Amino acid sequence: MNRLDQLITTFDLGLRAVFASPHAGRPYPGAGPEAGLSEAEKAQAAALMRVNHVGEVCAQALYAGQALTAKNRQVRAELEQAAREETDHLAWCETRIDELGGRKSLLNPLWFGGAFGIGVVAGLLGDKWNLGFLAETERQVEAHLAGHLQKLPEADTKSRAVVEQMKLDEARHAQTAVDHGGAPLPAPVKVAMRFAADVMRQTASRI
Ligand SMILES: [Fe+2]
Ligand SMILES: [Fe+2]
Repeated sequence: MNRLDQLITTFDLGLRAVFASPHAGRPYPGAGPEAGLSEAEKAQAAALMRVNHVGEVCAQALYAGQALTAKNRQVRAELEQAAREETDHLAWCETRIDELGGRKSLLNPLWFGGAFGIGVVAGLLGDKWNLGFLAETERQVEAHLAGHLQKLPEADTKSRAVVEQMKLDEARHAQTAVDHGGAPLPAPVKVAMRFAADVMRQTASRI
């Protein structure tokens, strides 16, 4: 693909990530009967799943940005495989939000644009840092999801099943990035990433 094709593809991906309902390639982990959740529990779970959905919108953008700039073919293919799994996550989160009667973040176009820019910059730094950034992102998402397993209502087995499968996938994505030569990031960068993710979480849990 030439640059223009790639840009159009990315724009299309962004529109679909933000405005359309994506299709998962794998079965929905949250299938099964709904537990009798109170309205407060439903609202709490929906807010948490909205945050996770935003994370997955960002994952779409991040992977797209990196794939656009990644130099090594093998790396690009690996990123595409992980990106397909991120689409599953995106679809699953949306399904769960709908089931809980919640809504997606109103700022999704903004999240997509921001994460895409970060992905492009990471890609331009070369595969070593590109993959290092990816590994660190996936690790932080994995830790974040572990936190959500503490926060989700105990009875909400459906949300929990979705989050647990996502957590497994993110751990694998992190390992893949390390296996392909991702470099460990400097500590201040990791701290800055955590801070940015925190701002996103706080905002997305409300808006
Ligand atoms: Fe994900
Ligand atoms: Fe991931």
